[in-house]
Amino acid sequence: MVDNWNSPDKFNREAAQWDENPQRRAVAHSVAKAIIAATNPNKTMHALEFGCGTGLVSMEIAPLVKSLAAIDTSREMLAVLQEKIRSSGIESIEASCTNLASPSENVLNEKSFELIYSSMTLHHIDETSEFLNRLSKLLPSGGIIALADLDVEDGLFHDDQLEKVHHGFDRAELTALLNAAGLQVTSFETIYTFNKTNRAGATAAYPVFLVTAAKP
Ligand SMILES: C[S@@+](CC[C@H](N)C(=O)[O-])C[C@H]1O[C@@H](n2cnc3c(N)ncnc32)[C@H](O)[C@@H]1O
Repeated sequence: MVDNWNSPDKFNREAAQWDENPQRRAVAHSVAKAIIAATNPNKTMHALEFGCGTGLVSMEIAPLVKSLAAIDTSREMLAVLQEKIRSSGIESIEASCTNLASPSENVLNEKSFELIYSSMTLHHIDETSEFLNRLSKLLPSGGIIALADLDVEDGLFHDDQLEKVHHGFDRAELTALLNAAGLQVTSFETIYTFNKTNRAGATAAYPVFLVTAAKP
């Protein structure tokens, strides 16, 4: 049972089996493909993924950029990623345990990233508006943010009803929040649809969007 925002214990418990779920691998691959198509990562870029988990997305992006900071609040998810870094020999990823939503824990102050992305993590962060402002400050002019998450859902996507999460995002509202953070939306597309039996026992479709926005 999880009853608070940012729940490293839940993800610590799930880490070892995380990659065994075929839908997780499939959505991560779709997200990575869509980010690459929409943002054209290149070898001059310093990239950041927040909520990287076991690195399903970042292992596809890392070979395309100069450096990649992969951050998460779950040490066990990061341990799985560390093992992938070790066995793949990809040296451009620096994985670290930090909570970007908590200014006091934020080790990224003073850093700058031309590309910031995430997959299925924004809905785990309480104050979306404040958080997007923080991300915007990490982008230089011309920097791009790419966020993949659920469209507004019926509240049944997560199995634990006490887990504090946003039940997806309304596209117009998220666009307004990105604009307020000083970013201009450049694309908003559906990139994947989860078909899953939700906790009410019904089979339902949960679309996933990728929004990209640039800092002028
Ligand atoms: C649904 S999982 C997605 C993991 C990965 N992006 C993927 O697609 O497989 C959400 C991840 O976000 C992490 N997370 C939650 N809140 C966070 C925060 N405030 N800062 C950094 N990571 C966070 C969790 O530990 C978890 O690994």
